[in-house]
Amino acid sequence: MVFDYIDGGSGAERTMAANRDAFGDITFRPRMGEPPASISLKTTVLGQELNSPLLFAPCGLMGTMHPAAEAGTVRVAESRGTIAAISSYSSKSLEHIAAASNATKWFQLYFLGGRAGAMSLVERAEAAGYGAIVLTLDTNVPASRERDTRNKVVFPLALNFTTITRFGPMSIVRPRWLWRFMRAGMPFHVANVVDAPSLAEVNTHASIFNSPPAWGDVEWIRQRFTGNVVVKGILTAADALRAVDVGADAIIVSNHGGRQLDGAPATLRALPEVVDAVAGRAEVYMDGGVRHGSDIAKAMALGARAVFIGRPYLYGLALAGDAGVAAVHDVLTAQLTETMHLLGCDDVRKLDASWLW
Ligand code: FNR
Ligand code: LAC
Repeated sequence: MVFDYIDGGSGAERTMAANRDAFGDITFRPRMGEPPASISLKTTVLGQELNSPLLFAPCGLMGTMHPAAEAGTVRVAESRGTIAAISSYSSKSLEHIAAASNATKWFQLYFLGGRAGAMSLVERAEAAGYGAIVLTLDTNVPASRERDTRNKVVFPLALNFTTITRFGPMSIVRPRWLWRFMRAGMPFHVANVVDAPSLAEVNTHASIFNSPPAWGDVEWIRQRFTGNVVVKGILTAADALRAVDVGADAIIVSNHGGRQLDGAPATLRALPEVVDAVAGRAEVYMDGGVRHGSDIAKAMALGARAVFIGRPYLYGLALAGDAGVAAVHDVLTAQLTETMHLLGCDDVRKLDASWLW
């Protein structure tokens, strides 16, 4: 059930598949005879210099995958010189995660408990030193993810007698997972909601679906948070312009990894329209379907300043904790370096449409 929660998407999983397929439809225009002596993967994101343009997307319920969870991810972000965005649905409190490493952390905001709950999360994130609020706009209602339904991972999630007996047969055949999960104190809750300890309570009293954020809320947060505001889940020029109008510092072109609206376009296809519309007034990043270093180069050539991964680092985390997250980051950046050598391009900041067929 944990694997399916990570690996699955909504509906017929068409958008999830489209995200990946879109990379296959784009080919490079390499340049021969000018072999780069060295490759630079360095870039800046909201004024901060990073060693690579590969960032970690916010993902919920990471404590079910491996006890290292978000703390492990921010440790790897620090050692690799990149940024991790932490989900509102983190398995430890945002303060605990902030203390786990010196990396720049961004906080992904869901309106847990409406505006009041959101404001308290924003204030806590600011106090804990998060450099940006990432406001996700594509999750007004829970999308139906049929693998989760089949596994009976249904909201409200809670760990009690009924759910244990439901998951019992599945967990018995995964003794290592079960042992780790029990030793970690069965983190099946939303640690950021301090007064509602179980996920079931969060879903009744502080559901993110009670008052999902609208444009007015982006503006409202922009006025209250002194750090950067990043809007996640944008797919069209019109919405990108609204984000710029309300003062977003950056936009993540995303369809939630094909986990929300099935039938939404592949993010790589939506990216150029957004980049054109924004015209440099905000930074534009993307996520969805990045599975190889060459995908990062393609997204950057189409105008993304940086790229996020979700599932790939979760697979690594589930398998091997910190070492797994690090390995995924290293494999993808090594592939990106190889791609740059073969393209004949020595710096990721030089990638533009002239490198594409
Ligand atoms: C997510 N994603 C997500 N996004 C968000 O804004 N808040 C969240 O809590 C979560 N939770 C979450 C859980 C899991 C298990 C996955 C796989 C994804 C979406 C995530 O940030 C990102 O947009 C996608 O994962 C990118 O697509 P790929 O890289 O997984 O194809
Ligand atoms: C998800 C929610 C947590 O994608 O955003 O599973």
